[in-house]
Amino acid sequence: MDSQIEFKMEKELATQVDEIHEQVGKLFTSMLDIGAGSGMLARAMSRRGTQMTTLELVPELVDYARSISDNSITILCGDFYTIELDQQFDVVSYMDGFGVGDDIDQLHLLKRISGWLKDDSCALIDIYNPVYWRKISGQKMRFDKAEREYGYDVDNERMLDTWWHPEQPENALTQSLRCYTVEEISKLCEEAGLKIEAIFPGGAMDYDEWVYSPLVSLNECLSYRIKVKK
Ligand SMILES: C[S@@+](CC[C@H](N)C(=O)[O-])C[C@H]1O[C@@H](n2cnc3c(N)ncnc32)[C@H](O)[C@@H]1O
Repeated sequence: MDSQIEFKMEKELATQVDEIHEQVGKLFTSMLDIGAGSGMLARAMSRRGTQMTTLELVPELVDYARSISDNSITILCGDFYTIELDQQFDVVSYMDGFGVGDDIDQLHLLKRISGWLKDDSCALIDIYNPVYWRKISGQKMRFDKAEREYGYDVDNERMLDTWWHPEQPENALTQSLRCYTVEEISKLCEEAGLKIEAIFPGGAMDYDEWVYSPLVSLNECLSYRIKVKK
């Protein structure tokens, strides 16, 4: 990887780790990161002394994470809806991915997150903001070998993310995430026995200027992070 890109990514990860420590607001030892992807955040947290466990569904991502992580990180391949874990954690995180199922799935997951938390510990979960995704619906992007368009399904309150090869638009693939207002996610958390303790707005992309602002208001952000406790 280009050393400048690597340096930028390391800096961004260090900022994310700082944010997590600030948001948790007290010393902690163990953390479970679910939907962990290739485990980048876990490696950065581990370097700063946290005992990390990651859970990821896609075996290729898990294999890659195992190939570049040291064995102080417990890297699990499995489904967060069904996996049995015999441990509880000081912090559970789910960054950039909550909302992949329907409301019943999300409620089930929140209940499971509650079960993985020690008493007086917290979970940090990123929630997609419906206001932002409605606003940028129709936004198109062009890359070297791919095109992308964001959409919004107003009936189901889901952001739609469609990708296709410029020469094969008929093979377009769409992924979607349920977006939640603060009121909606508060209600779902309550049903799962969790209470929202804090809300941290995230950033937003300005597609006119093609500039990403890492911190904007709660109304404008792409996603916001909730801190929940049992
Ligand atoms: C958008 S990615 C985010 C990855 C990482 N958290 C980040 O912030 O870069 C969401 C991840 O959640 C994983 N995932 C989706 N459903 C899952 C499930 N049921 N169990 C475990 N992981 C899942 C996906 O495979 C994907 O790697």
